[in-house]
Amino acid sequence: MAIVEMVGKVALVALFYCIVVAVPRAIEGAITCELVVSDLAPCAGFLTTGGQVSTDCCNGVKSLQNSAATKDDRQMVCRCAEQTVSTLPGINLTNVRDLPGKCGVNFPYEITPGTDCSKVQ
Ligand SMILES: *[C@@H]1O[C@H](CO)[C@@H](O)[C@H](O)[C@H]1NC(C)=O
Repeated sequence: MAIVEMVGKVALVALFYCIVVAVPRAIEGAITCELVVSDLAPCAGFLTTGGQVSTDCCNGVKSLQNSAATKDDRQMVCRCAEQTVSTLPGINLTNVRDLPGKCGVNFPYEITPGTDCSKVQ
């Protein structure tokens, strides 16, 4: 179990590293999955093992919320976040659900693999 956890964490870090480093930051105003992933990257530790939410992580969550100005943007963020979250090994869905609250952010929907993003307004 410990091995599985370790492999999962390494894969997680590698995944984020590849995406964040390989893809240039999104053009301002346009939401992309890369932006969502890079905003959520500092949250990986909390999302998998819990504990303290870092300032970087909360800043990412807030910037994600602020950059999603239109319904299309919000649906995009929803889809990307869901995709990101559901492909991460060792993710703890309780922590995913708690994350916005821990950062004092009021997300209009839950980022869980069951969320229907087409219903996001
Ligand atoms: C997920 O996190 C919660 C709260 O941190 C904890 O109570 C629960 O046991 C964790 N679940 C798993 C599957 O690790």
